[in-house]
Amino acid sequence: MTVVTLPQIAEKKRRGEPIVMVTAYDMPSGRAAEAAGVDLVLAGDTAAMTVLGYSATAPVTFDEMLAMTKAARRGLQTPLLIGDLPFGSYERSHEQAIASAQRFVKEAGCDAVKFEGPSPGLAQAIVESGIPVMGHLGLTPQTNTGFMAQARTGASARRLLDDALSLERSGCFALVLEAVPAKVAAVVTEHLAIPTIGIGAGPATDGQVLVLNDLLGIFDDFEPRFVKRYARLRHEMERAVTAYAEDVRARRFPAEEHCYTIEPSELEVLLASLDSP
Ligand code: KIV
Repeated sequence: MTVVTLPQIAEKKRRGEPIVMVTAYDMPSGRAAEAAGVDLVLAGDTAAMTVLGYSATAPVTFDEMLAMTKAARRGLQTPLLIGDLPFGSYERSHEQAIASAQRFVKEAGCDAVKFEGPSPGLAQAIVESGIPVMGHLGLTPQTNTGFMAQARTGASARRLLDDALSLERSGCFALVLEAVPAKVAAVVTEHLAIPTIGIGAGPATDGQVLVLNDLLGIFDDFEPRFVKRYARLRHEMERAVTAYAEDVRARRFPAEEHCYTIEPSELEVLLASLDSP
């Protein structure tokens, strides 16, 4: 078992080796990420929508995120675990952000944290407190309204590059680029020394991230262009629960193999006790 380290992630960019990142929100999904040998696991605030059923990511609370991040940790040994600072847990002050990041590290065993947006001063403050930071630019669902591709004009693409360079200078060890044109992501990737991890950002980024419940087809309320479904587990879950319900109604479940037994002599004791008042 070799634990993934930050220098190894940096080295992958230098060697041109794709970095694999996936989200996880509980112990079984952590175990799946572990079994797949991914490099980075993000206990992402997409859990707000894909697990907790909120209509957006903003409503999820810090305590909800902390509980899910702790659960993901219990399924993981080797990948780097990144805690995702939810909306409202880092914007007020650097002190608030550092305190939130510290809770992810101390209580959930995170190796790093991520936050959304172009705030290099904030990234620097968290890094200086001793906690590695991953940036996140492009579509930032906590504050963007609508799920739309970003940086589609020359000027906004230039701003994205400048923001990415500022986050790099502030000490971020990697940067998520969400929903930006592939060619813009390629330019940003080329100009950064730190790895870019794309979601809806084309093939030229140094790594890719997908939301676990999207790739598994557990959450299919939306069909974003950039999601590839590797399974259709919502259908499989519904099929299994429907089969169970039918079995119970038809008295096919539980069958003999699902039942505990009692020695006949012990059963006799019970039955005899019923006869005596
Ligand atoms: O919260 C999340 O899952 C994310 C990914 C989309 C990168 O931020």
